[in-house]
Amino acid sequence: MSTYHIKSLEEYFQVYRKSVRHPEEFWAEIAEENFVWRKKWGRVLSYDFSKPEFKWFEGAKLNITENCIDRHLFSRGDKTAIIFEPNDPKEEAQHITYRDLSARVNSLANVLKAKGIVKGDRVCIYLPMIPDLAIACLACARIGAIHSVVFAGFSSTALATRIKDSSCKMVITSDGAYRGAKTLDLKSIVDAALESCPSVQSVLLVKRTYNEIAMKAGRDYLLSDLLEAVSSECPAEEMDAEDPLFILYTSGSTGMPKGMVHSTAGYMVYTAYTFKNAFQYREEDLYWCTADVGWITGHSYIVYGPLANGATTLMFEGVPSYPDFGRFWEIIEKHQVNQFYTAPTAIRALAKENLDFVNKYDLSSLKVLGSVGEPINEEAWHWYNSNVGKRKRPIIDSWWQTETGGIMICPIPYVTPTLPTYATLPMPGIQPALIDEEGREMRANQVEGRLCIKFPWPSMARTIWGNHQRYKETYFSAYDGMYFTGDGALRDEVGYYRITGRVDDVIIVSGHNLGTAPIEDAINEHPAVAESAIVGFPHDIKGNALYGYVCLKETGETRNQDNLRKEINQIITEHIGPIAKLDKIQFTEALPKTRSGKIMRRILRKIACKETENLGDISTLLNPECVEEIIKGAL
Ligand code: PRX
Repeated sequence: MSTYHIKSLEEYFQVYRKSVRHPEEFWAEIAEENFVWRKKWGRVLSYDFSKPEFKWFEGAKLNITENCIDRHLFSRGDKTAIIFEPNDPKEEAQHITYRDLSARVNSLANVLKAKGIVKGDRVCIYLPMIPDLAIACLACARIGAIHSVVFAGFSSTALATRIKDSSCKMVITSDGAYRGAKTLDLKSIVDAALESCPSVQSVLLVKRTYNEIAMKAGRDYLLSDLLEAVSSECPAEEMDAEDPLFILYTSGSTGMPKGMVHSTAGYMVYTAYTFKNAFQYREEDLYWCTADVGWITGHSYIVYGPLANGATTLMFEGVPSYPDFGRFWEIIEKHQVNQFYTAPTAIRALAKENLDFVNKYDLSSLKVLGSVGEPINEEAWHWYNSNVGKRKRPIIDSWWQTETGGIMICPIPYVTPTLPTYATLPMPGIQPALIDEEGREMRANQVEGRLCIKFPWPSMARTIWGNHQRYKETYFSAYDGMYFTGDGALRDEVGYYRITGRVDDVIIVSGHNLGTAPIEDAINEHPAVAESAIVGFPHDIKGNALYGYVCLKETGETRNQDNLRKEINQIITEHIGPIAKLDKIQFTEALPKTRSGKIMRRILRKIACKETENLGDISTLLNPECVEEIIKGAL
């Protein structure tokens, strides 16, 4: 029986059973055999769901960069660790070997130290998809600083909120970013954010677009200048297993984003293990995940998981539509990609285009296709299977979350028979449970309920930065002794899981988690707006799009409604970023409310989805008369 490279369904069940019956033994064996430790753990696991507190490999000492870089230098020093494929296909791709990566990470780590960053300090990374992004994460990890990567599509307000929440001491950014035909000016976004972030003492700048930027003396430094003055050797800081490795913000159903804190050892062990198993990665393979490192998928399956396995991981700076819709397929042919991991929203967008864009390229190098971030609808699944996988390559529909750190439910390629729209079976070590309306676990098959995980796993987030109470309330208070995912799921007759979607006020748009509350807060800042409510509705490419119901302060508002719509989307762009813009905005005199004043989103959702036939009982509403008006005005 091999816990890595599981070869048959029978073997999967054997491994799975062992992981459930003897979890400590199971994880200890994986940790022992596959990583380098400065000191071994005392206990494999201790936990208490009521606090909640989870500790894996307690007492162990390590540095994750020794596992992701140093230990490969002897056997894989000249192997490519990162291939960088630039936005512009005319610009040459870069191949960074493990030896180069070591030198670049160590040099940057020395720069961080020279600028006063010490173990435990928070460093915000706001960079486009260039190698420096991965290198910056690793340089922080090298010296024990906690990185907080903020997706470079977020606005200055969103960036400032995240910097302030974890009081980052430094920001690493670039002059600009290329995205398709556009060039974004990242530095001015950082400058605007830093007007309200007193904790930031220095800003390091990577040059990418070479546009003119303002430099603030005593705060801003060109990284290239600082790198000249440091050595390319930097001893790795010795970390405790449970020391935080990074913070990554995710949306919640209320106001502030949640800074999920991930640990060092548990995160490393789980992401490395799942990378090898879920992608069946082999030494000579070339792996490409199209996510941005600004999201958890990029952290776990562009940077840490692949590098801990000594893999070659491709980083792509651009977008699937530039210079044309064949770009993904061109890259697969050019670099002979073996594992390809992308999001349903990208598949749906590409499936709308002429098939010649795919058929032009030789995709025969592909062995495994992955999907992540949202449910993959049947049509997109079939398109991916037929045209990219040529009906020969398994699609692994992987379900997981920022909070889970790594892939939780997912087929093992060439082992688990796939089924469109099903994430299928749990990874070894993962114990899902479906909970009914009364809060009881449903043990039978062919049931649908709320998806929970009833036993700890190594890469679970340990807390929300600065707010353990919110961590407890959000994930561990709905059901005793379980982690509540916020998703609904069904389990079919053979035990396969199908994720049915969020059961809270988070909407997934193009694979991005968006909380409704922060968007409503932004809209309500518009001087003409009294209140608003956001719901999701189905969208061909994005999966879901946002529909806003907006009440104006003056019912006789004379301003042009189209202008108001533009202004509302402008405010959202400023507060959150363009990803949160509304597709539809309906102005209405009132929002349906319960007698206790709660907005009845269920009704608004049905109207937005054009399902007005069966709205349920509305007579108990405070203002049932407004429902008719809203239906009439629906867009
Ligand atoms: O609703 C689920 C959906 O994405 C949510 C997690 O989003 P985030 O934390 O941004 O992480 C995304 C990348 C791991 C989940 O609660 N989701 C993710 N993968 C799938 C999915 N829904 C259905 N099928 C999936 N494969």
